[in-house]
Amino acid sequence: MGFAFTNLLELEDLARAKVPRPSFDYIAGGAEDEVSLRRNREAFTKWALRPRVLVDVSRRDTSTSVLGQRVSMPILVAPTAFHGLVHPEGEVATARGAAAAGTVMVVSAIATKAVAGPRWFQLYVWRDREVTAQLVKRAARAGYGAICLTVDTPLLGRREKDERNAFTLPPGLSIANVRPAGLDGVPASERGSAFAKYVAELLDPAVTWKDIAWLRSLTSLPIVLKGIMTAEDATLAVEHDVDGIIVSNHGGRQLDSTVGTLDALPDIVAAVQGRVEVFMDGGVRRGTDVLKALALGAKAVLIGRSALWGLALGGADGVRRVLEHLRGELELAMALTGRAALAQVDRSLVQRV
Ligand code: FNR
Ligand code: LAC
Repeated sequence: MGFAFTNLLELEDLARAKVPRPSFDYIAGGAEDEVSLRRNREAFTKWALRPRVLVDVSRRDTSTSVLGQRVSMPILVAPTAFHGLVHPEGEVATARGAAAAGTVMVVSAIATKAVAGPRWFQLYVWRDREVTAQLVKRAARAGYGAICLTVDTPLLGRREKDERNAFTLPPGLSIANVRPAGLDGVPASERGSAFAKYVAELLDPAVTWKDIAWLRSLTSLPIVLKGIMTAEDATLAVEHDVDGIIVSNHGGRQLDSTVGTLDALPDIVAAVQGRVEVFMDGGVRRGTDVLKALALGAKAVLIGRSALWGLALGGADGVRRVLEHLRGELELAMALTGRAALAQVDRSLVQRV
């Protein structure tokens, strides 16, 4: 059951025809004026590639490692909530697709289905810290390879389409991981986003740097902070002994009017000085985007919406095809810039335009 596509930018329109409007808006949309969302894409146009020629690129290798884990490509699946909105198998299918493509899926804390490792577990902190601690411990028991704490969401950004649609989870879907604690339901809302209310009521807006030690006390898994946008916070992250950071503005869904994430990356990489692995996400749609992020110092990138559209259009195989398509574009971009392996990708590959 193949859907036809020639690039990832087409997926949104293909999915629009298939996904119910409130779910489509929730996935595609960003916060407020969607400036952060647009800047993520625009940032890639502000960097140009500097190709080298007459290099033997008959063998090309896109494989790398992330936090010590081998992957077929420097492209991971970003944590996104509620895969059940677009496919009955939900996160279980996404996990299968990512595994078939040979890469890591970061599973959202607010998944509609529970899935086991060797994936990374994205964590939100519930006000009920005991519930949160149990999630972390369960992730370790289930074979997860890392805990990825999202730090840009003390409250949900204001997604105005969700406000108008009174976005909520359709009947039959709930937040699987906190079902045992009875916190899985998102009660319908008469006005405004029901999900924004859930976050405001049940997630903890008081999480600080002190809580990194608390998280560390719960698990020996590597800890990654997702949602770092400044060199100052990147430096603090290193000082707090985390294992990685993800440069991210949450796909333009949280604070509006940030820079595009590719533009935040260079200062952060300079501040970190190789002490932890730096990842980035936001607007990655092309193999050349991946190459630019790597040239500016990212170890790998993550894709959010594109993976969800793949899931909506083709289930597990759709996710696999989206990932493999992007890997293929990356491989071509490597050939055309004279890089046979990712170890040869460095700052000299890009220039600001
Ligand atoms: C997200 N994102 C997200 N991040 C996170 O840490 N936990 C989550 O549960 C979610 N949920 C979520 C739902 C949906 C529908 C989207 C689109 C995004 C943000 C995500 O991890 C990532 O930062 C962005 O999606 C990356 O941008 P692109 O690839 O979508 O442009
Ligand atoms: C979102 C949250 C759940 O972006 O991360 O919708």
